[in-house]
Amino acid sequence: MNRDLRFIYSELSEIIKTEKDSKKAIAKTRPLLDELIATRLVDEKFLRPISRRPAAYLVHRPPDRSYSVISMVWGATQAFPIHDHLSWGLIGVYQNAIREERYERLDDGSNEGYAEIKEAGATDFREGQILEEGLVFDEVHRNDIHRILNPTGKPSVSIHILASDLGMKQRHQYDPVNRTVKKFVSGYDDPDGRIEGRIVAGNDASQIISAAPYATLDTRGMVCPYPTIHTVAKLEEIGKGGVLEVLTDSEDSAYDEIPAKLKSKGLEFVVLELPAGFWKVLVRR
Ligand SMILES: [Fe+2]
Repeated sequence: MNRDLRFIYSELSEIIKTEKDSKKAIAKTRPLLDELIATRLVDEKFLRPISRRPAAYLVHRPPDRSYSVISMVWGATQAFPIHDHLSWGLIGVYQNAIREERYERLDDGSNEGYAEIKEAGATDFREGQILEEGLVFDEVHRNDIHRILNPTGKPSVSIHILASDLGMKQRHQYDPVNRTVKKFVSGYDDPDGRIEGRIVAGNDASQIISAAPYATLDTRGMVCPYPTIHTVAKLEEIGKGGVLEVLTDSEDSAYDEIPAKLKSKGLEFVVLELPAGFWKVLVRR
């Protein structure tokens, strides 16, 4: 990591630690993002598009996970689902252009899983411009419901600084046509291209992703908490240092139950969301 990046990251840590007013924190973070973009400090490997959907690479996250710097790479006309952040953030256009569509929530949030939203405006941002997100913190009538898309015919890159480990955070995804809201974890893509899916939970995944698993446990079809119970039992059969691979199609098991159990045991693990629509857990005994 070069000297300038180290400076930016240590300034960011300081802002997150000391500035609890989100408006002021955003104002202090803005010049750091300006500098990151102007000096072209983002490594090439975080600028590569992937074919079917926008890529989200984790560029930096401090050990305490108090913030994240994410590079999103948008293929021509690609869009992200409508979502919220539940934390403040800034998005700077690093290459080409992006569009932000903002949404307003109309219902009172009393009906679980139901949400009525309507578009409240769209703005285009070009290279070097910065947009700010999430100044209001109201559980239902949030002002951070939005989506980003690439309205152009060539790839775009945006750099996001968020006051949370955004890719691992459970937040909400909205569907305006079916009027639904659901939990979602956006995850991070692997810039080294070793996996097809996204990392949605776990500790530092670099080593465990490339390890050959000792055994595979397929719990697909089982509901929570059975995938967790079977995972714990199967781990008993594996020697220390061996890697167990677990497949599950239970969202609660993948996002909550299995990670909580493995964390409580102090084990190294990663949860990947696979394009086929289920999750793979890799855990080292
Ligand atoms: Fe967003």
